[in-house]
Amino acid sequence: MFEEAQYFAPVATRDDGTVEVELAASHPGFADPVYRSRRNAIAALAVGYTPGTPVPTVDYTEQEHEVWRIVSRELAIKHRKYATAEYQDATERLGLPGERIPQLQEVGDLLEPLTGFRYLPAAGLVPLRDFYGVLADGFFHSTQYIRHHSTPLYTPEPDVIHEVIGHANALASDRYARLYRLAGNAARRVESEEALEFISKIFWFTLEFGVMTDQGELRAYGAGILSSYGEIEEFRGMDIRPLDLVAMGTTHYDITKYQDVLFRAESLDHLEDVVGEFWSGCDDEAVFRIMGNAR
Ligand SMILES: [Fe+2]
Repeated sequence: MFEEAQYFAPVATRDDGTVEVELAASHPGFADPVYRSRRNAIAALAVGYTPGTPVPTVDYTEQEHEVWRIVSRELAIKHRKYATAEYQDATERLGLPGERIPQLQEVGDLLEPLTGFRYLPAAGLVPLRDFYGVLADGFFHSTQYIRHHSTPLYTPEPDVIHEVIGHANALASDRYARLYRLAGNAARRVESEEALEFISKIFWFTLEFGVMTDQGELRAYGAGILSSYGEIEEFRGMDIRPLDLVAMGTTHYDITKYQDVLFRAESLDHLEDVVGEFWSGCDDEAVFRIMGNAR
């Protein structure tokens, strides 16, 4: 069974109301009690969040800001070489701070005048139907914790760097933001788990890990690649396949390692024509029909 977020550390609320994030033994912060308690405290903020109120403020430490500074600087250099022009222009419009971790409330304040998107706090895994569904209303669920300081250029889970540098920069583009909304509308429209999974896999292979021909070369627009210091240097050498709805919607992926099969759009127009067009009208029947035709 497909689970978008098996890589999120599980979050448990104990009988006494305390919140605990269960890190795997292989996690860089597993043996660090200070980091563990930060993770629990930050997760508790999201667990206690009341919809409709401002996103809780995280009192980030200097060490946490330093991780953001390092990664932000390194990724900005890579983006000039590997990100699509549309993504780079959107990054410029958004103007995220490079010197400190922005609060999610602030990210929403920057984004909303551009494309209407706002950020909502998430402790960890958000069920697929909720995660995708609210994209239709211009809301993006985001974790607030940051990776362990011992490995600033690596994280096994989507942290605030992935959510904000990867996704918010894309969400500052009118054209990418429209695709996020269309994915949300499609997720709302379908009723079966199979069709929802199909839509979310297409999201994975486009808005998370999509690449396209841009300025005469292969460039990335997917948030997963553009927020990963390691993957951004590797994607051009991966197994690059033509954009294909059925292939994307049914290809298995392993989120615990580098994404080795990627799908290339020939342009942003092409991505909108194929994926945007599909999401804008698909229902359960349409999903089953194209899956059936492929058999
Ligand atoms: Fe993501």
